[in-house]
Amino acid sequence: MKNKVNIGLIGIGTVGGGTYKVLHDNAEEITRKTGKQVSISHVADMNVELAKKVVSDDTKIFSDAFQLVDDDTIDIIVELIGGTTVSKDLVVRAIKNGKHVVTANKALIAIHGEELVALAKSNNVILAFEASVAGGIPIIKAIREGLVGNKIEWVAGIINGTTNYILTEMRENRLSFQTALKQAQELGFAEADPTFDIEGIDAAHKLTILASVSFGIPINFDAVYIEGISSLDSIDIGYAEELGYRIKLLAITKCHEDAVELRVHPTLVPEKRLVANVNGPMNAVLVKGNMVGPTLYYGAGAGSEATASSVVADIIDIIRQSEINSEERVPVLGFKPEHIKPKRLLNINEVISEYYLRMTMSNMTGLLARITSIFAKHSISIDAMTQKEVEENAKDVDIILITSPVIEEVMNKIINEIESLPENKNKIIKIRIESLNK
Ligand code: HSE
Repeated sequence: MKNKVNIGLIGIGTVGGGTYKVLHDNAEEITRKTGKQVSISHVADMNVELAKKVVSDDTKIFSDAFQLVDDDTIDIIVELIGGTTVSKDLVVRAIKNGKHVVTANKALIAIHGEELVALAKSNNVILAFEASVAGGIPIIKAIREGLVGNKIEWVAGIINGTTNYILTEMRENRLSFQTALKQAQELGFAEADPTFDIEGIDAAHKLTILASVSFGIPINFDAVYIEGISSLDSIDIGYAEELGYRIKLLAITKCHEDAVELRVHPTLVPEKRLVANVNGPMNAVLVKGNMVGPTLYYGAGAGSEATASSVVADIIDIIRQSEINSEERVPVLGFKPEHIKPKRLLNINEVISEYYLRMTMSNMTGLLARITSIFAKHSISIDAMTQKEVEENAKDVDIILITSPVIEEVMNKIINEIESLPENKNKIIKIRIESLNK
């Protein structure tokens, strides 16, 4: 690549502004590391006035991003507008125009990644997306390059800062989900429409990408089992804490001999695990390699300059790798394309887990014996059990159980049988547990 590298930036919002700042403020450092002058030469944003305020006078500004991707003087396009429609059209056009592309767009990669990676390869350009997962944490590079000598066995992470902030507030300040969400919105940690975050979709997008680079499987968003945190009751956060656990929205993917599991759901994690103590909007990802063992990556999963740090890392990677013959570059998904193979995807009913269960029952003689006999009939043991009086009605009790590992299908049968007992008052609350120690 020539000595002066021109970057065309689409979207001058939070991450776009951060990318401008990183390239500007660290220009000297970046030149020392690359030998090149790297700067944003062009910006596209519908809000031209905003763009004028952020960038220098010599930066060319477009209101139409398609004009930017067609500009012959640009070397690398950075897409930071999000979404999966216009952004996809822009990325496709940029690639077809022979430009390298950097994106922070997890939904775009999770849904159209297969097509875009193949298109980039056939056009001999690089598509890079480090900032799409866990913001400033270089987790894709760590898995793809730092752990390249390992067979990755599993990945488990807190990869959505909004929900981690909400869960932290629910635990530390005993807030309800709704109050914690409102607070997160007021502080700018949650979007006005928080659906993607609180329903686990954002974490599932990111998990899809991590599973692909970890196991060499196609990117397949539809394969993820997703449960968010919107129906989580702070009472369970309190009970979990009494039993030595924290509840986190974990994104988990495990590679078995014959299948892969991908799931996002609220999870009880033993409080002694480091990841259980990741609080506020921070992210953390645990990666288990078969040789290195568990490794942990922690940092800001969102935010202007933190996410821009990953965007700029991708830009520099492209500058360093673009001169290399495409066959010899680091494969974008970590595996040579001909070795990316689909694996059977485990249905959530087939997943083995320990469980936290909360059942509200009328306190009749012999109740515990009836519950334990249902577990015994299915040969499942109970690891812990506590009973709490329900404040509103002293005749009712909350029974909290921790089970030994059990296949989800059997767990659901046990739950159905207990829910049919005449003493049962409500739907049983079921939350999966991950010990994260194997
Ligand atoms: N909404 C995301 C989060 C932003 O809360 O983590 C970063 O992808």
